[in-house]
Amino acid sequence: MDTGNSESVDMKTFCKMLPKIELHAHLNGSLSDATILRLLQDKRSAGAVDLPDSAEVVIKRGHNRTLEDCFTVFGIIHCLTDNVSAIETITRDVIQDFVAENVRYLELRTTPKVIPEKMTKEQYIETVLNVMVEEMQRSDIIVRLLLSIDRARGVGDAWDTLKIAKKYKNTNKYKDLVCGLDVSGNPNAGNLCEYLPVLQEAKESGFKLAVHLAEIPNDSETLAILKSKLVDRIGHGSYIHPGSNGSHEMLQIVKQQSIPIEICISSNIMSGTVKNIADHHFKHWRNEGHPLIICTDDKGVFNTSLSEEFLMCAEAFKLSMSDLATLSLTAVESTFLAKEEKNLLHLSVQKELQDLKEKTGILL
Ligand code: IMP
Ligand code: ZN
Repeated sequence: MDTGNSESVDMKTFCKMLPKIELHAHLNGSLSDATILRLLQDKRSAGAVDLPDSAEVVIKRGHNRTLEDCFTVFGIIHCLTDNVSAIETITRDVIQDFVAENVRYLELRTTPKVIPEKMTKEQYIETVLNVMVEEMQRSDIIVRLLLSIDRARGVGDAWDTLKIAKKYKNTNKYKDLVCGLDVSGNPNAGNLCEYLPVLQEAKESGFKLAVHLAEIPNDSETLAILKSKLVDRIGHGSYIHPGSNGSHEMLQIVKQQSIPIEICISSNIMSGTVKNIADHHFKHWRNEGHPLIICTDDKGVFNTSLSEEFLMCAEAFKLSMSDLATLSLTAVESTFLAKEEKNLLHLSVQKELQDLKEKTGILL
């Protein structure tokens, strides 16, 4: 294959221009500075007191923290997004941020939340879905939603999440917009094995499953979840490959089931679960020829963008423009779209890559 490097467009510009697929983005973790400032302003004009100082919230973003600190930050953000109007704002802003990055397909994920006397879980999810529908009409992007199960909230809450997911899957207005479930939350909390009955029923109900797995070392949990054969995509998977303190057994299972891995480099480094980019498990899985998808995780909290994640990956692992284009195109296969929709998305990304090639002279 040609190295595909062109003198006319630098790598940074190329990463921005590339049509991209984002499969791992938590709604509340994806807020830009501008969105956070708007939310603070709205809160203040509604007469709220005891709010975190805007500078305090904003300045702390993008800093290296411990994993526990990250979950404290999510708590602060959740204080700002505790009403329907804020959910409308953040969903719109986050989708538009991804549109501006040339993301053509976005799978957002979020944990349904209830705020007594302000918002039910159904209102929360319906608000997100309504904005998704509007934004898809306005812009060249397809958006789908995964409902997140938070492993720190217990199995009862997970059953509730599945019930809500089923309700919206079967609604004509939102048909197929909720295409799967995510399992996330503080990896030090709870035990994923307790959630297996919920995940089993979710699969039987036609949902795809993206599971945060081995974000920190936990071989027994990781093995049990992998052996269940329920996982359609792995989030992080930092401690699965033997080259990154996993094991041959886990590697073999992931390879046999060919489970794509969502790679979130800034998130792993900034939250301290991976020491540095040179040690990142991306390189081991790439050597295996395994399906990988470059993602942001929480572009707000980790102060990044999908274009920057592509650039970082290219620089660290010596990827060419052609390699990045291939990563973008093959990511389509890992989406939770139905076969026909996948084929259409594949064709349109392929066409756009062809146009990019003609416009820039880049050999893709
Ligand atoms: P939300 O679900 O839209 O509120 O997005 C924020 C939530 O996503 C957090 O409270 C966590 O439950 C989850 N989350 C975000 N990043 C991570 C991660 O790196 N590991 C596990 N869970 C995460
Ligand atoms: Zn995540």
